[in-house]
Amino acid sequence: MFDVVTIAGSPALPSRCTAALDTARSQLERRGLSTVGINLRDLPAEALLWADFQDPAIQRATELVENAQALIVATPVYKAAYSGSLKAFVDMLPPHALAGKSILPIVTAGSMAHFLALDYALKPVLSTLGATRYLPGVCLTDADFIYEDHRLIRLETAAGGRLTSALDALEAEVIPRRRNAPRLLEIAV
Ligand SMILES: Cc1cc2nc3c(=O)[nH]c(=O)nc-3n(C[C@H](O)[C@H](O)[C@H](O)COP(=O)(O)O)c2cc1C
Repeated sequence: MFDVVTIAGSPALPSRCTAALDTARSQLERRGLSTVGINLRDLPAEALLWADFQDPAIQRATELVENAQALIVATPVYKAAYSGSLKAFVDMLPPHALAGKSILPIVTAGSMAHFLALDYALKPVLSTLGATRYLPGVCLTDADFIYEDHRLIRLETAAGGRLTSALDALEAEVIPRRRNAPRLLEIAV
């Protein structure tokens, strides 16, 4: 079981939302949290589109989501909503897959004009999976990403600060739950 599972919902390569999640996972790992990333681009496209619930890669991804303490769900804004890849994956998750989990939603967008896609599109669709514990979301625009040779060098200072604050809030949610998690007792013989 991982403390934090990230879901990258972009079909693009390179992808800003995947890069933002790579940055987020590195920061969380440095804080001692265990993380793993699901990149929807790496899942078999046919299985996603045809909703093949028996596909082993889809089943593994579903298990990671179900066993996570918390999730970061990131999607590019497409036509003022989330990506089709994310919707295809959400459609395959069990109805209560996100119940009781802390969720940090992130959108990347061409501009701030559609940042409300976070509240009006992404959160409602995640709520259908039982999500109720949302952390304040983050919207990153294309101008926030500094690339060199197609490689993300860094996020603009203000945007990096917004992401770090969101990760602070996520860490504050996960750490107390970890302390309360049931532990295996060692029995001395
Ligand atoms: C098909 C498509 C639709 C898009 N629609 C919007 C949109 O409605 N609003 C917006 O702000 N940006 C829109 N964008 C821009 C992307 O949201 C933006 O470039 C985002 O950072 C891409 O993330 P990615 O690099 O992870 O794919 C669109 C891009 C594509 C390819």
